[in-house]
Amino acid sequence: MNKKPLVVGNWKMELSYKGEVELAHALADSLKGYVPKSDVVICPSYVALPEIASFAKKAGKFEVGAQHVFWEEKGAFTGQISVNSIKPHVSWCIVGHSEARMMAGVTDDIVVGTVKLLKSHNIAPIVCIGETREEREGDRTVEKIRAQVDMLIQNLDRTSLVQTVIAYEPIWAIGSGVLPEPDDVAQVILLIRKQIADRYDQAFAERIRILYGGSVKPENDSQYVGGPNADGLLVGGASLHPQKFLDIIKSVDEAFA
Ligand code: PGA
Repeated sequence: MNKKPLVVGNWKMELSYKGEVELAHALADSLKGYVPKSDVVICPSYVALPEIASFAKKAGKFEVGAQHVFWEEKGAFTGQISVNSIKPHVSWCIVGHSEARMMAGVTDDIVVGTVKLLKSHNIAPIVCIGETREEREGDRTVEKIRAQVDMLIQNLDRTSLVQTVIAYEPIWAIGSGVLPEPDDVAQVILLIRKQIADRYDQAFAERIRILYGGSVKPENDSQYVGGPNADGLLVGGASLHPQKFLDIIKSVDEAFA
């Protein structure tokens, strides 16, 4: 089964508009002369999407995604951004990032609804799941992951599920520099795949791309990808540095060489 690895850069709200446009150019420059085996996606803020998406099309080095989208398509939702607004610019969208779960009240139900909405607009969802520190310390990681994956399995049809990327991000590892043991990540990834295989079959489960995210840096990236591990990485802080992000892309490529 030929599954393409995936590296996603989540720029969050770290830069100005100008800073984001400059970073997109710098990333394209650092990718000159290198053809990634992985799909590479960057997720700037909403306002920079049109400019960066049109640049990305010309540069041909990476694709563009949104960091979040509102779960209703249209209506009286002051301050929200509709799928129709992002659609001309993105082919990907992060759904249920833990920061959006905390700040924008995104629940597992909303995640499912958003995935369906995105699928109807042909945008590939990257769904973030993961346990809090309390859940980990209370030995409830498996329970949490099972419940989150079950929501997807029960509510998405086969085609939507296979086109959904699942990003396992232990919430306590995001932006903290605290890393999970690679074996623990591999166990969670196995668990997710087994759950999908139990509903469908192993071959189907193998087709789904599962990423790891949380404090990924060039110094620690390779331990989480390849073999029974993740099919790629969701990178926050390090994706703001073109050289670091390039090094991470190369590590993922190597893991799948
Ligand atoms: P981080 O962020 O790499 O800065 O920990 C990852 C994420 O939030 O997806």
